[in-house]
Amino acid sequence: MKFASYLVIFFLFLFQSSNGSNLISQSCKEASKNDPNLRYDFCVASLEDESKLQPPPSNLEGLVGMSIQLTKSNGTNMVSIISKLMKDKTFDQYAKVCLRDCFDLYSDSLSDLDDAVVAFKSKDLDTAAINLSASLDNSVTCEDQFKDKKGEASPLTKENRVFFQLNVISLAFIQMFHQHY
Ligand SMILES: *[C@@H]1O[C@H](CO)[C@@H](O)[C@H](O)[C@H]1NC(C)=O
Ligand SMILES: *[C@@H]1O[C@H](CO)[C@@H](O)[C@H](O)[C@H]1NC(C)=O
Repeated sequence: MKFASYLVIFFLFLFQSSNGSNLISQSCKEASKNDPNLRYDFCVASLEDESKLQPPPSNLEGLVGMSIQLTKSNGTNMVSIISKLMKDKTFDQYAKVCLRDCFDLYSDSLSDLDDAVVAFKSKDLDTAAINLSASLDNSVTCEDQFKDKKGEASPLTKENRVFFQLNVISLAFIQMFHQHY
């Protein structure tokens, strides 16, 4: 084989192998520019972790799909974390009621995210965004309930924030997909 052919193959390989993580960092960069709520480092870290577990997305459409799936698996974890906390006897009555509500809110988020997946697959971007916004709002509502009573601390602050971020990322990517589509 000629040297030039080796060179072509080398560059093709280089392009292929860096494509997935370039897509993630480029998309996170663009998304964080448009949205002050979106933290670039978190965006890259969580999506790169996820793309180690499944074939990395090759385009923005695939990335949106992966991002919503990641949000959903995080939401599924939330439901099980909350149901464990609900069995914890050390919480007072007020906290127990809040946890019960959070359980319902996150269960609703899972339905919202299922609908977002279906809507996105059929390129109904408006519906996908409405469903994701509803899912995002639920994590805010869950967190805010604890603040309504003085002295009550939310046991879910960190987790609510992560889930909120994942929804923000999915929404920002859908917005970008909308502009490029
Ligand atoms: C959600 O995802 C983040 C990062 O991907 C992880 O650190 C966190 O533990 C997850 N939380 C839940 C409740 O799954
Ligand atoms: C998703 O959004 C659509 C359009 O607003 C709505 O009809 C549907 O009920 C939503 N899904 C859920 C689970 O709320």
